[in-house]
Amino acid sequence: MLITAQKARDLSIQLTKSQVLLNYVKEVEQVSSVIEAGRIRKNKGSILQEDVCYEMRFMDEDDLKDMMALEEIIVQNLSDKEIFRTHASDYFKDHFKVENSVIGIFSDDGLIAYNVLYFPGVEGDNFGTDIDLPSDELDKVVHLETVAVHPAFRGNSLQRKMEGVHLRTIQEMGYNHVCCMVSPKNRSSLQNIFSNGLIIKALKIKFGWRLRYIMHKNLLHPSAIGPEEIRINGFNIEGQVDLLQKGFLGFQMTELADGFEISYGKDYAVTT
Ligand SMILES: CC(C)(COP(=O)(O)OP(=O)(O)OC[C@H]1O[C@@H](n2cnc3c(N)ncnc32)[C@H](O)[C@@H]1OP(=O)(O)O)[C@@H](O)C(=O)NCCC(=O)NCCS
Repeated sequence: MLITAQKARDLSIQLTKSQVLLNYVKEVEQVSSVIEAGRIRKNKGSILQEDVCYEMRFMDEDDLKDMMALEEIIVQNLSDKEIFRTHASDYFKDHFKVENSVIGIFSDDGLIAYNVLYFPGVEGDNFGTDIDLPSDELDKVVHLETVAVHPAFRGNSLQRKMEGVHLRTIQEMGYNHVCCMVSPKNRSSLQNIFSNGLIIKALKIKFGWRLRYIMHKNLLHPSAIGPEEIRINGFNIEGQVDLLQKGFLGFQMTELADGFEISYGKDYAVTT
């Protein structure tokens, strides 16, 4: 089909207009979908420190490129590559298919943090099996899959905030159990996960070679620990595995000048 130059110009104007409209609709959607907003410190603790605004919202596939770019920055800045598993964009694409699975935090610099959920189902690598959840509970398990904060924005409790929002989302969706995996070397992440009420239920090799705590929270009936407490050096892996095998659960972390300790105790329901 032949089109005249004038027709082509009209079409192009129409297309530009619809693109502007689409962008506007997207912006309105984003503003109305803000979960939380406020101010945080960029470059906390350095001479470049400044206060900036942030917004938290659920992300969709349009944000995938920004997510992959942030993942790359995280990897470049890791002091120990073992603590963080990277994922390809196809992997994240699948996550966006489940609504509200991915939370992002944005500043004027763009995407600065993300938190991703995974719904393993009964067939997948369900961490519920690592902690001996009854088989009829496995379909109620959700994983806190991965989390990242841009190095310039760390120290603002963004992991704790995003995971807190996701825990409420999971409960509203009718799931009862949240599980996650964390390296014993990743103290910032471990502390944040404890602060959202998850506790250590296992310590084992996952994905062939990665040593990981498996942490869990029953959203309907959170564990109550007490009254016996055993504190153990966080570097003592064998000692912790032994305690876990004896039915103890890790519920708290204490930073020391030369390391850290994990407090273990028994579920109150089991001790009484
Ligand atoms: C784990 C992580 C998400 C935590 O980020 P965060 O939410 O900003 O952490 P917090 O705000 O709780 O910071 C806690 C403290 O540790 C410091 N801190 C956090 N991450 C740090 C890091 N990677 N290096 C140095 N210090 C760090 C903060 O400055 C803060 O100190 P302060 O209490 O004196 O202010 C972030 O470190 C990160 O993205 N790490 C790389 C990816 C990763 O390990 N993800 C988890 C496994 S999936």
